[in-house]
Amino acid sequence: MSFDGKVVVITGAASGIGRALAAGFAKRGASLALGDVNEAGLAETRSEVEALGGKALIEKLDVADRAAFEAFRDKVLAAYGRADIIINNAGVAVADTIAESRYEDWEWIVGVNFWGVVHGTKAFLPHLLERGSGSIVNLSSVFGLVAIPTQGLYNATKFAVRGMTEALRHELEGTGIHVACVHPGGIDTRIAANARFYQGPTGLRDQNESVANFKKIARTSPEKAAEIIIQGIEKKEPRILVGVDARLLDMVQRLLPKRYWSLLGRGMSARAKR
Ligand code: NAI
Repeated sequence: MSFDGKVVVITGAASGIGRALAAGFAKRGASLALGDVNEAGLAETRSEVEALGGKALIEKLDVADRAAFEAFRDKVLAAYGRADIIINNAGVAVADTIAESRYEDWEWIVGVNFWGVVHGTKAFLPHLLERGSGSIVNLSSVFGLVAIPTQGLYNATKFAVRGMTEALRHELEGTGIHVACVHPGGIDTRIAANARFYQGPTGLRDQNESVANFKKIARTSPEKAAEIIIQGIEKKEPRILVGVDARLLDMVQRLLPKRYWSLLGRGMSARAKR
């Protein structure tokens, strides 16, 4: 399937997976509508898309702001007359224990990772329902499958995205609208560097060291991740696992629902020491 003539909306498109998705869809003939809080990064993504012969509308957008998201939707529909694939990708991370966590960080991460996905879904759903086609693709994580110490805030948002997206999929059966929940494993992006960091899973409190550790486990490039996600959308997959690590964690969690952390924790500490 080609995406020629399709309009793909991507949040968090100034960096990482979102930027790679924009390039991947541009190569397949789609037109892009890209939102992010990072305007300079968005402009770079647009240049990349244009260098590939594609077209991108870019807009400064805080996905946590419902009115701003609805205004963005209106601009996209006014510019292109349609939207076919909505990818709620924007996301942030906080590394801290629940006990030490700050309420302002809860509000920030829930605003972006959870409300951002709800806003994107609800803003475009009436348009997709009217046309009886399209895809809603929400970014959860492997951390929407397994819970890790110091990732509790992130886990809470990614489990919520998964629950909401799976319920939506069941609700939309028979409407012609495809719904996918994406669970990437470690992808080599700026997510850890952009995180609010207080304490990492191996007890570290130094963000630079933690980012270096993340690089060791983030074995999939954003480009490869984007290819897997785009192929999943082509095949109308409901659940897209990205990377060998994601497939492994999915399996471990199902085999050892009560004890997976004792296994994963040892693996993470051993890797961090290497
Ligand atoms: P990234 O940090 O490279 O890109 C995230 C983008 O979201 C950035 O451009 C950032 O400016 C944007 N953003 C942040 N707050 C925003 C807001 N309020 N409104 C609009 N845009 C905002 O990170 P990455 O890895 O590309 O993340 C993309 C998605 O993939 C996120 O939802 C993340 O949680 C998820 N993910 C990433 C994994 C990884 O290992 N990198 C693993 C699992 C899931």
